[in-house]
Amino acid sequence: MGEAKWSQKERLKKVLITGANRGIGLGFVKKYLQSNYFVVATTRNVEKQGALFQLAKENPNQLLIVKLEVTSTSSITTFKEELKQLEVIFDIIINNAGVSLEEPFGKWTPEVFENNIRVNTIGPALVAQAVVPFLGNNSKLVQVSSGMGSLELNINPEAALDAYAVSKAGLNLLTKRLASKFHTNGIIVVAINPGWVQTDMGGTEAPVTVENVVNNMVLTINKLVLASSGTFISDEGNLIPW
Ligand SMILES: NC(=O)c1ccc[n+]([C@@H]2O[C@H](COP(=O)([O-])OP(=O)(O)OC[C@H]3O[C@@H](n4cnc5c(N)ncnc54)[C@H](OP(=O)(O)O)[C@@H]3O)[C@@H](O)[C@H]2O)c1
Repeated sequence: MGEAKWSQKERLKKVLITGANRGIGLGFVKKYLQSNYFVVATTRNVEKQGALFQLAKENPNQLLIVKLEVTSTSSITTFKEELKQLEVIFDIIINNAGVSLEEPFGKWTPEVFENNIRVNTIGPALVAQAVVPFLGNNSKLVQVSSGMGSLELNINPEAALDAYAVSKAGLNLLTKRLASKFHTNGIIVVAINPGWVQTDMGGTEAPVTVENVVNNMVLTINKLVLASSGTFISDEGNLIPW
């Protein structure tokens, strides 16, 4: 891992972002680099070229790319070993990696439910379990959820996003349970809804750019305190009903 290279990490705040190869995750990486954080960014394929790798070249002492496939327990184990070697406590960990696999009612299959749940619910659960040793008092675990996961709002029920909605509702419940489990350790756990954003997932018709929503979310994350733990919030920090 080239430990000497990361020596300046000691004096910087530290953030870990999953699914940082593109979209909102990559937006978080750019923003936290600008904010002078030491950034650990996960991607599925470290051989890949592209924007994240370009950023790592431009910020050789500030951005570390680590491989992580959230549906693989062996990948999570290797990822945890790499974090151990870094010997850091993160200020913020963002469970961002996700998929939205669509399938309309009438054509539902177990595979699409399973694949959404594997990536969006079980993945972040096992990532959370792996990273808790690297969180301390006042550290923040941010779960990137979706308004589609709100039972109360029941957004757009005619859309073919039922399995996705189920997976994010599961992530929301886990957020509350993790917040309770780690309250006495001072770890703040929230679910955040970025809203509909211009990414590969959100498409070009989405009303919000990655840059705008990430700016909002970073401001909101900054303001989180222990009393915020166990809440579901918008990018601007407004409470969303579960
Ligand atoms: N965009 C929206 O409108 C919107 C709305 C509400 C919530 N969200 C949530 O925001 C988060 C980011 O979404 P996005 O719009 O940025 O999506 P995106 O552009 O499709 O990017 C998804 C990211 O997740 C990674 N990923 C997917 N499956 C993975 C796996 N099994 N293991 C590890 N990484 C994996 C992808 O890696 P690869 O590049 O390797 O595929 C990619 O980096 C997701 O949790 C999503 O549900 C998005």
